[in-house]
Amino acid sequence: MKFGVLTGGGDCPGLNAAIRAVVRRAARFGDETVGFLDGWKGVRDGAFRPLGLRDVADILPRGGTILGSSRTNPFAKEEEAQRVVARLIDLKVDALVAIGGDDTLTAARELHRRGGRVVGVPKTMDNDVNGTDWTFGFHSAVAVAVDALERLRDTAASHHRAIVLEVMGRHAGWVALATGLAGGADATLLPEEPYDEEVVLRTVRAAVADRGYALVVTSEGIDLGPRRGRAGTKDEFGHELLREREVGAELAGRIQEATGVETRSAQIGHIQRGGTPELFDRILATRLGAYAVDLARAGRFGEVAVLRGPVVTGIPLDEAVGSPKLVSPDWLDLLHTFDA
Ligand code: F6P
Repeated sequence: MKFGVLTGGGDCPGLNAAIRAVVRRAARFGDETVGFLDGWKGVRDGAFRPLGLRDVADILPRGGTILGSSRTNPFAKEEEAQRVVARLIDLKVDALVAIGGDDTLTAARELHRRGGRVVGVPKTMDNDVNGTDWTFGFHSAVAVAVDALERLRDTAASHHRAIVLEVMGRHAGWVALATGLAGGADATLLPEEPYDEEVVLRTVRAAVADRGYALVVTSEGIDLGPRRGRAGTKDEFGHELLREREVGAELAGRIQEATGVETRSAQIGHIQRGGTPELFDRILATRLGAYAVDLARAGRFGEVAVLRGPVVTGIPLDEAVGSPKLVSPDWLDLLHTFDA
């Protein structure tokens, strides 16, 4: 077989591990692989490179993606969608492995509906793809965010301040949740819960009274209601670039004004997405990449490789895409056990 592989959407640690696994698994059966450049754009435009064992020899620990990525959505325009289908036929690609989050996998589903032979691999630091316990990239991103929170704790404690850490997470608050839990924040704000300013202010006052400083973690996706934030730029999938709203800075201003506690904020943005993958992400990416090849070899097109408990399996793309996997009530209950 001839495999094609692409990485679409925001990069995250583990993409290269997944690409390597696709190439190695395919090679094990004597199959060849080509890598499309910059996500769906590379398929649309016929931009690709052969991927042999040498090409993937040392990429396992590297962050980012050697294939490049983009948020190009060729299925938004009929003419481009047809180009994608035709390109795969022209290049005699027997199976395409699309590695990405909801947008990339939604495009893969569209390709499958048009008869394309495609399988998916879920990735995103947001951990918000349905049907899989975890997505790779998430644990690595949270490790960076927790490290940032630990550093902020030092300065908050030294200066008797409140500090707000803003982390990524477009629709779902998984990164904020895990950062707050693992880093011991006094308050953690997620898009899944309505913003309650009184609760935040009470929490900050209590933490400062109790131990002299306060740490607040907020997801970039929370809705603060009326604020001075700028109108957001949108990407090709129509998503607002949330970091431009600067909810962390806005929140810090409100806390300082209302409590009189000197308050700072930090937005770590894309720092969360770079760097070497953590052990968990390396292994998950490797398992899912290899399994995607197995799915394709078994003719199970239109499926996506997922982690369910200890097992890697395939589920229809339909079950994985369309709506984000939100933080569930049991996690929220655990989180609020530790509110200040
Ligand atoms: O979808 C992953 C993500 O990291 C979101 O958490 C964040 O809102 C967005 O990407 C940022 O996108 P960009 O890299 O285009 O600024």
